[in-house]
Amino acid sequence: MNYLDLSKEKLEQLLDATNEEFKAIRAKGYSVDISRGKPCSEQLDFGMEMYNLGDSLKHMPKNYRNYGMLDGIPEMKKLFGEMLGLNADEIIVCGNSSLNLMYDTVQRNLQFGVCGQTPWNKIKTKFICPVPGYDRHFAICEHFGIEMISVPMDEHGPVMDIVEKLVALDDTIKGIWCVPKYSNPTGVTYSDEVVERLAKMETKAKDFRIFWDNAYCVHDLGDVTDPLLNIMDTARKYGNEDRIYEFTSTSKITLAGGGVSCIGCSENNKKDILSHLTYQCISYDKVSQYIHYIYMKDMDHLKEIMNKHKAIIKPKFDKFENAFLEEFGLDSNIAKWTNPNGGYFITLDVYKGCANRVYQLCKEAGLTLTKAGAPFPYGQDDADATLRIAPTFTSDSDIDISIKILICCVKKACLEKLIGDKN
Ligand SMILES: Cc1ncc(COP(=O)(O)O)c(C=O)c1O
Repeated sequence: MNYLDLSKEKLEQLLDATNEEFKAIRAKGYSVDISRGKPCSEQLDFGMEMYNLGDSLKHMPKNYRNYGMLDGIPEMKKLFGEMLGLNADEIIVCGNSSLNLMYDTVQRNLQFGVCGQTPWNKIKTKFICPVPGYDRHFAICEHFGIEMISVPMDEHGPVMDIVEKLVALDDTIKGIWCVPKYSNPTGVTYSDEVVERLAKMETKAKDFRIFWDNAYCVHDLGDVTDPLLNIMDTARKYGNEDRIYEFTSTSKITLAGGGVSCIGCSENNKKDILSHLTYQCISYDKVSQYIHYIYMKDMDHLKEIMNKHKAIIKPKFDKFENAFLEEFGLDSNIAKWTNPNGGYFITLDVYKGCANRVYQLCKEAGLTLTKAGAPFPYGQDDADATLRIAPTFTSDSDIDISIKILICCVKKACLEKLIGDKN
């Protein structure tokens, strides 16, 4: 049903019925949450298997118990390298959080500059933020007072005509945030053309950096993985390998907040980072790194682990897809959603001007959503249309309740708006 074609009388009729449904739902006193991309308890049970690996720790080299090896143990450098398509010697294995690494990298560059160049905090630094994007990336910029320039995403990645123009003209634009595979929150994987253009584009700032947050590099939901061009190899072709910082972690492989992370980069960048890191840290937790290596082993075994995650979370994504399809179909003009091949999120675009209202209505009915506007710099979604859904954490029965509430609130908010527009 195309809601835009309906008469005012028909819309009012539908709203009356939806209001009844809303009242009945609210009376149930539900309390469910699909706001954050967290693994569910069963997934974390897999992660705990790491700590139940018999006597494998006996074979751990004795020096892993002591200070040293600031860039991590060779086994994890190799494995992270394989995950990201980098050489082991391009990796620094760090602590439990890749977001922490991104924060530190921004702060280091603000304070000390990149590879001996002018510190970013000497000027009014700007970052390009593809939208919708990861709210915590934008929060880092906001926290440091870095001005954010929004660039729209399409189904191939950031719109490169805009990105190229911006970075070619303004040397105060120092970085861009990218979640290149199964992007948070749209699920888009960047096309080869987008990766190539990012790797090769002319930037006025010689110290421009791409923050390539490959958080979902092995997190498939489909049978085949979305192909992603290797940005480091591509940048190297153009002599731009220093432009790339890659990040990932095992937060959604082993334990969220209890895993290991890494930064992957060129030799120059690695030297630069380590020259500062040495003041910050004597070494990261190599025992944890070794435990992760023993558990994950190699890319084949990692694939098996990720298949176990997929078996649990894919049906949750499918429930949303099927329910949205059944309720709205493809031509409603009030709801459009993504059906990602991987990652942790679905993006739901509702009729323009309704996202905040949907968020508020859901809250009233007992469903916590990520705040409307969160996937945009400064929390400002000019169209007020985009909502992020995180299906993984919630139990199957709560998913059903969440879907029921969400669909009712989308209908209610959009019908109210459509009727309002006709007045
Ligand atoms: C794109 C992206 N990057 C990073 C993170 C956080 O990673 P970590 O736990 O390694 O800090 C998340 C978590 O949701 C994410 O979606």
